[in-house]
Amino acid sequence: MTLTAVQAGVYLHHLCFESSDPARLARFYGDVMNMDVTKMADGEWRCEGPARRMIIVPGNDKKLAFAGMACRDKDGVQDLKSRAQSEGIKILESPSPYLGAGSFAVRDPDGHLICFGAAKASENTKKGISGPVQHLTFASLDVERFAEFYHGKLGFGLSDRVLHSDGSMATCFTRGNHEHHNIACFKSDRVGVDHHSYEAGEWITIRDWCDHFAAHNVQLMWGPGRHGPGNNLFIFIVDPDGNWIEVSAELEVVHDRPVKDWPQAERTLNKWGKAILRTPVSDKGATA
Ligand SMILES: [Fe+2]
Repeated sequence: MTLTAVQAGVYLHHLCFESSDPARLARFYGDVMNMDVTKMADGEWRCEGPARRMIIVPGNDKKLAFAGMACRDKDGVQDLKSRAQSEGIKILESPSPYLGAGSFAVRDPDGHLICFGAAKASENTKKGISGPVQHLTFASLDVERFAEFYHGKLGFGLSDRVLHSDGSMATCFTRGNHEHHNIACFKSDRVGVDHHSYEAGEWITIRDWCDHFAAHNVQLMWGPGRHGPGNNLFIFIVDPDGNWIEVSAELEVVHDRPVKDWPQAERTLNKWGKAILRTPVSDKGATA
């Protein structure tokens, strides 16, 4: 299997979420996630910080409008587009303002719009706490179908799988480059986004983020802890719309290793303490 997405050096560049109150959500990402905020003419808000960008458009809370994934260069974009076409995936126009000529979009099996392209040069100069936007994690009724699309058809690398006792997938982690995962999927009783994550890099920077959150009276909803798959340290907060935000550090760098399978168990989700299991250990049909 050719890992076309990995060869193209795909990374998560930005997200666009819908919101019933875009102004409130934009204020949150400006203040709490340490970004500059710009109101556009058509009701859209752009939040930009050091290596992180969030677009907010009017609509339904917690609904992803699209994700923007950048490739290393234009050749990578073209190779990925050719691969998608050869797999029978319909090529759509990319609505992303941050991706340049030649960009395109696809819909994954759950209907999420994923844009691929070469990133335009950033004009943002904000100095802030380190934390590039790094991964997007979905909630889905069918994790096997997620794996077949992103790994099987687009050529993302398969890093780790979390398996129920019957062998079905509880979680799947896929990568578009050396980062352990930049798209992942949890089995759930709903379809949507589970969370998105910013990679602080070092543990001490998570401290800085937590102090910054405290200054804005934002409390942690999970963590600190350490995930099994990816071995990353983590904290979670929630934005005013209910979107889960992770700040991570020490995410595993994958050069070349076999896929690792993990049991669906508390210690897989969090080596240090309390886990938030999206599906119970013994029952793959319901959500905890
Ligand atoms: Fe995560």
